[in-house]
Amino acid sequence: MDKPAPLVRAPSKQCHDTGIPKVARLALLLITILLFASAPSLLFQPLTISLTHNDPWEGLAAHCKDAQPIRTAEFLERQRQLAHALLALNGSTYVAEPGASALFFGNISDASWHLSERPLLLLISPLVDQGEVSARVTILTPTFEEDRAKLLTIPGVDVSYVAWHEDEDPYTIAVNALPTSNRGPIYVDGMTRHFIVDGFEKAAPGLSVLLAPAAITSLRERKSPTEIALLKCANEVTVLAIRAVQAQMHIGMRESQVIQMVDEALAVAGLTERWGTEENAALPHGTGTDRVLGRSDFILIDTGGVLFGYHSDVTRTFQLEESEIPEDYARIWWDVHAAQTAAMRVARAGVITAEVDKAARAELARRGLSPYFTHRLGHGIGLEDHEAPYLRGGSDIVINSGHTFSNEPGVYIKGKVGIRLEDCFYINDGGAAVYLTEDVGAQARDPLHP
Ligand SMILES: *[C@@H]1O[C@H](CO)[C@@H](O)[C@H](O)[C@H]1NC(C)=O
Ligand SMILES: *[C@@H]1O[C@H](CO)[C@@H](O)[C@H](O)[C@H]1NC(C)=O
Repeated sequence: MDKPAPLVRAPSKQCHDTGIPKVARLALLLITILLFASAPSLLFQPLTISLTHNDPWEGLAAHCKDAQPIRTAEFLERQRQLAHALLALNGSTYVAEPGASALFFGNISDASWHLSERPLLLLISPLVDQGEVSARVTILTPTFEEDRAKLLTIPGVDVSYVAWHEDEDPYTIAVNALPTSNRGPIYVDGMTRHFIVDGFEKAAPGLSVLLAPAAITSLRERKSPTEIALLKCANEVTVLAIRAVQAQMHIGMRESQVIQMVDEALAVAGLTERWGTEENAALPHGTGTDRVLGRSDFILIDTGGVLFGYHSDVTRTFQLEESEIPEDYARIWWDVHAAQTAAMRVARAGVITAEVDKAARAELARRGLSPYFTHRLGHGIGLEDHEAPYLRGGSDIVINSGHTFSNEPGVYIKGKVGIRLEDCFYINDGGAAVYLTEDVGAQARDPLHP
């Protein structure tokens, strides 16, 4: 669920949601082991990983082997749609810094080009020639980095590079490079840093510089079939990895061993930028200890990774065969499961996102658990792990086909128990909500079958 710290090397991400302290976020994968009854003797049990068969990760490597990265033709189609949207808005250009939106429209991620104080910008402007609309792609680059910028693989019919010298104003150079026929607003991606927006405003006092509106942002929010296919594979294989890890677990095992196994399984599955999150909202003993799994502990794994840019995000709370979970905690597991099901019944095209959040919340309220469901129900997912639109109270966004969301109700009773179940879903062309993990069984079956 909320913000992952990388399991291995990955671009640093910011947590903006839960208010979980940074220290906690920096910790590695998340395993919540409830300590209310872990016997000290467990600490001294042998900690070998018992391998029940030769290859514990059997099948994981094959699962996404046919997945393909987004092709040039799809990038060109995105740019064409953006040009049409800009034309309808009378916009002169769209501006994005390396990041999810520049990756979507121009194949420039913040991993392929790290942000610095010197702006490198993707600019896409509409061109109309005898009624035909096309997209003009321009890269604004620092002169001394122009050669490196030209190594980026940027799809586009006619990509041009405009370089700025250290003693020039980059924004003036950019504005002068725009097609002169159109003096409409400059629309900037929402993640653009303020000094860049400011720079454009100063360089072009006659032009307004505006945040890209829904007509533009919806192009990335509503996923294509190719994108859904990548999201499905990434999320399916993450569930399969959690199950494979469960099969290797035993009472007395340490958190760090489980963390390592999850990372290994996801790596075998071919996912990059793997992460896990430490969440100890319900734990009495804080963070940072290498806890030992006790017989009466639930295990909570929240993890994900990236397949050709597209993210997975799955949470499972589960037990082992030999676990002895107190009955009242097992009941809460089913309450959370019911909340997840209730949300899914309401989610479809045309419904306001707040209604889906409400459905899950109402289910937990009926069971007296609403004070313990302390975060929103879900987030969009795609080229970012968390992206718009969100499933939260107070949101008036209308759900549309191609939207993707996490559905992740949780109950956290401080000092006692923390249970969260998370599957992501998408809205199909018929407007129905379908789990991305449908082909591997979707929701967890029961506490023993994640
Ligand atoms: C996008 O960029 C990556 C490298 O970051 C490259 O491997 C890939 O071929 C590019 N895709 C297209 C369609 O150009
Ligand atoms: C774009 O400009 C046309 C003609 O100048 C005007 O009719 C239309 O309302 C404008 N559209 C927007 C979204 O500003």
